[in-house]
Amino acid sequence: MARRKIGVIGGGFVGSTTAQRLAEKELGDVVLVDIVEGMPQGKALDLSQAGPVCGYDSCVTGANDYASLAGADLVIITAGMPRKPGMDRSDLLKINGEIQQKVVSGIMEYAPEATLVIVSNPLDVMCFVAHQVSGLPKNKVVGMAGVLDTARYRTFIAMELGCSHKDIQAMVLGGHGDSMVPLTSTASVSGIPVQQLISPERLEELVHRTRHGGAEIVNLLKTGSAYFAPSASAVAMAESILLDQKRVLPCCSLLDGQYGIDDTWVGVPAVLGANGVEKILEVELNKTELDALQSSASSVHEGQGEVAQMLSLA
Ligand code: NAI
Ligand code: 2OP
Repeated sequence: MARRKIGVIGGGFVGSTTAQRLAEKELGDVVLVDIVEGMPQGKALDLSQAGPVCGYDSCVTGANDYASLAGADLVIITAGMPRKPGMDRSDLLKINGEIQQKVVSGIMEYAPEATLVIVSNPLDVMCFVAHQVSGLPKNKVVGMAGVLDTARYRTFIAMELGCSHKDIQAMVLGGHGDSMVPLTSTASVSGIPVQQLISPERLEELVHRTRHGGAEIVNLLKTGSAYFAPSASAVAMAESILLDQKRVLPCCSLLDGQYGIDDTWVGVPAVLGANGVEKILEVELNKTELDALQSSASSVHEGQGEVAQMLSLA
């Protein structure tokens, strides 16, 4: 069987660590694309030279155009401006919307069969742009945010309990912003509800820290934003699709009625397999959580309307 071809658009912090993780896992040959001349080629060469040391055979190439993506099975889009201190994700709406529009048109010209995994912020609205511009069926466009936000939530719960994060089961739904919804009703540690182990006040603090997990790192770094956990999260999603693992992961998907939400891209539990988002799971939420999810979705819906107008999308 021929090797898979995986595109990574944007060779910055998230894009280059994503390419590295894809190569190290040998999920396919990787094409790294960026507008900066020489940069994706240089990073690709560096990653190729790590192959003999790390023991991977994946070919990594760099390009400044989309022709080298011809026949790609999956493309991860990280192109865009990162959030800076004091900047809200929605400040990036216009600039990243225009970048997303250009990037997706370029990909579709050469790899119209590819599944798109969106990472660029503001995440949920960029999924809307990618879907509109690509004309792909909704299952073939998916956004990465919930996997990252959930990883943060699990980390904070594990730190609180002084136990392994491997035993923490939890999920964060909703938009990738301050209105995200870390579920408390279903979070557990090896099957024990966290609500039995952590006081409501303390759990609320962990929820708050999760909601601001991206900003916490931005403030520490001073320039740029997180990339180790984001790239790991994007690659977990890519792996589930490429290997048809059918993992249940929180994914930014287009809802049409689930959770009482219509025509909106928002994070919900989904089965990710060879056909992309194969199924959206509707779990029972308590009223506070459902209200929070619907309110998060309505702010995404507003952003979709704004960007549609800015970019003259249908
Ligand atoms: P970065 O600034 O290190 O890299 C962005 C890259 O995109 C740059 O190399 C830039 O040259 C490139 N680029 C800009 N326009 C382009 C175009 N038209 N075609 C190809 N490449 C283009 O930023 P970083 O840290 O890699 O973050 C990338 C994006 O991912 C940002 O929008 C950031 O906010 C977002 N992000 C999203 C997360 C999520 O959970 N969804 C988590 C972390 C970052
Ligand atoms: C994060 O959550 C910046 O969205 C990015 O780290």
